[in-house]
Amino acid sequence: MEIVIVRDAAEAGRVAALKIASVVERKPEAVLGLATGSSPTGIYASLAARVQAGELDFSRASSFALDEYVGIPLEHPESYASVIRRDVVEPLGMDQARVRVPDGRADDIEAAAVEYDEAIAAAGGIDIQILGIGANGHIGFNEPTSSFASRTRIKTLAPQTRADNARFFDDPSQVPTHCMTQGLGTILDAHEVVLVAVGSSKASAVAGMVEGPLSAMCPGSALQLHQHATIVVDEEAAALLTLADYYRYTYANKPAWQRFEH
Ligand code: GLP
Repeated sequence: MEIVIVRDAAEAGRVAALKIASVVERKPEAVLGLATGSSPTGIYASLAARVQAGELDFSRASSFALDEYVGIPLEHPESYASVIRRDVVEPLGMDQARVRVPDGRADDIEAAAVEYDEAIAAAGGIDIQILGIGANGHIGFNEPTSSFASRTRIKTLAPQTRADNARFFDDPSQVPTHCMTQGLGTILDAHEVVLVAVGSSKASAVAGMVEGPLSAMCPGSALQLHQHATIVVDEEAAALLTLADYYRYTYANKPAWQRFEH
């Protein structure tokens, strides 16, 4: 794991976006893993600015969303299919035909989940997966006690996650109870992952993910098993990291050839 501590959310988005940009510059037909939620908004804003400036082109990229609610219509403004189209596909100039979101409305949810993982594999795997982390340590919608070997499947949302996401709905009772999410095993198959966490509400989850024991109680800790995981956190989200000074020192002393920050 590489831990990058930055001063605020805007800087976290800018630094994480450099990782994604470097993949797409190297491979214009890259396969991206897209996350929703507040955490990656700075990444998408930074990438969109570079697209506007003509510096980056996502028109040949493909993408797979991490997760989707089960139980709300596709056209609901808070379905992740809608959010991804509005916040990512349109601003980045992606080809909607090459964007997949788990089908939370499928008649056969289990078959749709299996087919989703097969489609990722058929695309050659995800080159870079964008992630946030929930206050309870979830990544995607893999709630505590999710298996590290799990694949895309239906899950029940934890009460805390429903409460956290109530801000996107008119009434807390409208937050779906279920979702379809890439599994931890699916996420670990991505060639590279970049996770952003900002704010004090994420400090405990970040500490569990980075320094805690490998534990299904903190699903994010599964990323300790990933060979190329970059964790970008602001000072507040880094507050409970016991080795914060070491991460700062390591980042400040990276050899030039390893740096992704320009
Ligand atoms: C959401 C999403 C996750 C996200 C997490 C944190 O519900 N399913 O992909 O990383 O919870 O959300 P936020 O970034 O809004 O804090």
